[in-house]
Amino acid sequence: MNFAVLTGGGDSSGMNAFIRAIVRSTLNMRPETSVWGVLDGWKGLIDNDFRNLDKGSVAGIASAGGTILGTVRVPELATDPILQETAARNLHDNRIDYLFVCGGNGSIKAAHSINTMIKAENIKTKILCAPGSIDNDVCNEHGSSIGFYSALDKSHEMLEWIKDTASSHRRVYLIKSMGRDSAYLAFYSGIAAGAEYVVCPGENVDYEYLATMIEERDRDTRIIVAEGYDQELHTIRKTLEDIFKKRNVIHEIRTVDMSYFQRGGKAAVSDIIRASWVAYRMVKDAYDHVDSGFYTAFYTGHSPEPIPLHLAADDNKTNHEGIPQDIINFALALR
Ligand code: F6P
Repeated sequence: MNFAVLTGGGDSSGMNAFIRAIVRSTLNMRPETSVWGVLDGWKGLIDNDFRNLDKGSVAGIASAGGTILGTVRVPELATDPILQETAARNLHDNRIDYLFVCGGNGSIKAAHSINTMIKAENIKTKILCAPGSIDNDVCNEHGSSIGFYSALDKSHEMLEWIKDTASSHRRVYLIKSMGRDSAYLAFYSGIAAGAEYVVCPGENVDYEYLATMIEERDRDTRIIVAEGYDQELHTIRKTLEDIFKKRNVIHEIRTVDMSYFQRGGKAAVSDIIRASWVAYRMVKDAYDHVDSGFYTAFYTGHSPEPIPLHLAADDNKTNHEGIPQDIINFALALR
């Protein structure tokens, strides 16, 4: 069989763990399979840019940021039938049985369009996708994207740093967070760092209220602004400064954009494990000849019902056993 792996969209941390787990699981389970890396994401699929991957080529990459395969966006792919046809043909001509994709919202849409073309043309390739994005904007009611927790870690750390200066100087900081039109990253990092307010996309912000909130605080105030909100930081700053002027009070306001710092750097352990687990599952399913599909990672914001205390305390009634066999197999497959 021939497998191919592609990383698309933004380069969220965890993508390298995904690539590694696809390659290792495949070559450990069935060494006769060839694994191909698609270079530069969707662009490489259109340009027919494939590179053979062996176990050594993915050594030591699990926690590294970015993607060793590269990722170049081709937004037109989701709608342009000529590009879709080219991508589908390349998959056919390279005899790819399964294409494994880790990418964000745009990537999943592109994968779907190509999959539709593949079916229409009776091409045998199947496409298995996993959510890879710091935005957490793919099927997020089913699970959170690979890369989300890594970006949260970075954001949390930056917000702590900013707090030091905000506190020492009694300043207000307006801090922009990436996330496209999703507020997840802004919101969760705000919760983790104890920020005072998170401005969400589409929100009708009550600036008078915000100004009062700032006035009532003693030292530091961090207001996170999600990328999808329709005003720039300097405009928000001006609005608040005007209100303070009218109220005859002085508050120093500064702006800072976390943006690309949130996306880069080492992957969080939870992203490495989730990416590896999803990839391993995909490879196993490919050998079972599953149809194209989307694989979610673990939940964020999942709130299961509480377990009665007497059950939790009773080892005979609740699971207090060793590691399940499937997880042992997973560990062995990644060697
Ligand atoms: O989708 C991931 C993301 O990081 C978004 O949060 C952001 O809007 C966008 O990518 C930035 O893209 P680029 O790297 O092309 O500027």
